[in-house]
Amino acid sequence: MKENSFAIEEIRRITGGTPGKAYVRSFGCQLNVSDGEKIKGVLKKCGYSFTEDENEADLIILNTCAVRESAEDRVFGIVGSMKKLKEERPSLLIGIAGCMTAQSHIAEKIKKSYPQVDIVLGTSAISSLPRLLLDALNGVSFAADIAEYDDFSEAVEQVRESTFKASVPIMFGCNNFCTYCIVPYVRGRERSRRAEDIISEVRELVGSGYKEIMLLGQNVNSYGNDMPDGITFPQLLRELNSIEGEFVIRFMSSHPKDASKELIDAIFECEKVGKHLHLPVQSGSSEVLRRMNRRYTAEKYLSIVDYIYSRDPGFSLTTDLIVGFPDETYEEFRETLDIIKRVRYDNIYSFIYSKRSGTKAAGMPDRTSDEEKSRRMRELLEVQREISSEHYKRFIGRTMRVLADGKSKKRPGYLTGKSSEFIIVEFEGDDSLIGSFVDVEITGSMNWAVTGKITDRRENL
Ligand code: SAM
Ligand code: SF4
Ligand code: F3S
Repeated sequence: MKENSFAIEEIRRITGGTPGKAYVRSFGCQLNVSDGEKIKGVLKKCGYSFTEDENEADLIILNTCAVRESAEDRVFGIVGSMKKLKEERPSLLIGIAGCMTAQSHIAEKIKKSYPQVDIVLGTSAISSLPRLLLDALNGVSFAADIAEYDDFSEAVEQVRESTFKASVPIMFGCNNFCTYCIVPYVRGRERSRRAEDIISEVRELVGSGYKEIMLLGQNVNSYGNDMPDGITFPQLLRELNSIEGEFVIRFMSSHPKDASKELIDAIFECEKVGKHLHLPVQSGSSEVLRRMNRRYTAEKYLSIVDYIYSRDPGFSLTTDLIVGFPDETYEEFRETLDIIKRVRYDNIYSFIYSKRSGTKAAGMPDRTSDEEKSRRMRELLEVQREISSEHYKRFIGRTMRVLADGKSKKRPGYLTGKSSEFIIVEFEGDDSLIGSFVDVEITGSMNWAVTGKITDRRENL
């Protein structure tokens, strides 16, 4: 840390306190976005201001994702196009951060084929950024730190994009090694933050007006497993629920193998916890789940869903699904259709399987054609479209408390927000309501959102 404070002071000294404007773009999941906010936190300390326009930036940082090949291709395309920008303005610095950099073959490729890149910053090296920047400003042509893990990056302060919605990482890494997934290789093993630190951070955020707190981790249900004297995730939810103020607590993601009755009871019993659970199923076939190393069966998954529905038959569930896992048969795919019909999710996030080198599934035979996988994906989306248009009707006539979070892109004069159930709600309203809770009576539904009328504006409590 000492070394970084020195680097921060040096950057400020050699640039007269104003190193210029930085453009930081995050490509991945919410944890990646939260890392992007930490990168901004470090840059702010170095004296940088921020811009949304890469053409006027003095420093560009692309915070990358490695979960699917398409995400990587996109970044390589963008870095390639930045060659011209760098030729026009040689003083421009370009940095690549995030999960892609943690794969040594990618770091090598960047070094070899993309000379326009000055800095490579690993997922656990955010606190090293000032040192790398200083090297780059001093003319070092390729400054890289892809160190496995350091304690300091996880404590870096975030420059948050929103003034009312905050993400709070509660743990880092993953121990699960699902056979298709690159995350454990690029994020390392599970490390939980101390409960006291999380609670005081949330208390501060709520005190300064934040209305939505999103707790993040690859598997929040195993929070605390690495701290034998610590508390469990359901206990953490109860602690956070007791913080005074009006705000909603959300969390992501929840691995079904560790989703306990205690977790579900905590969701129902804590009034500030959103009445929604994102429970990634990945496949409806127990055989595919076994090949994925998910460590639950379709039956076990459905028993969790049944317990939730026994407490509230209309409870809101969402999920992640992979279509076309190696050698998935049509029969196995049909079991996925069966499970989505049985559970009736409000929303699904579905992905065609992408081969990730270094993972177990990359070595499995995969004889299903790309065309067939795309066809299955279309079939899945069609079935889900019908389910959601029907299922969303259950909200009509209800009054939902909604955190207004922006203007509707489609309807002028309308705002959108999310209800406690994580449902998108559209309603007529003034921009001044953005960032506050309103009560909305639901009068209509679509297959992706519901619409309604404000019945009461809740002041920023
Ligand atoms: N930790 C979370 C969990 O287990 O639910 C998931 C995090 S992952 C970043 C988000 C989603 O990406 C996964 O749930 C999975 O559906 C999808 N995914 C991961 N690896 C994939 C791959 N190789 N191909 C396609 N989709 C993938
Ligand atoms: Fe990937 Fe599985 Fe870990 Fe989720 S739980 S991040 S899918 S390995
Ligand atoms: Fe997230 Fe992508 Fe990394 S999904 S953890 S940014 S590989």
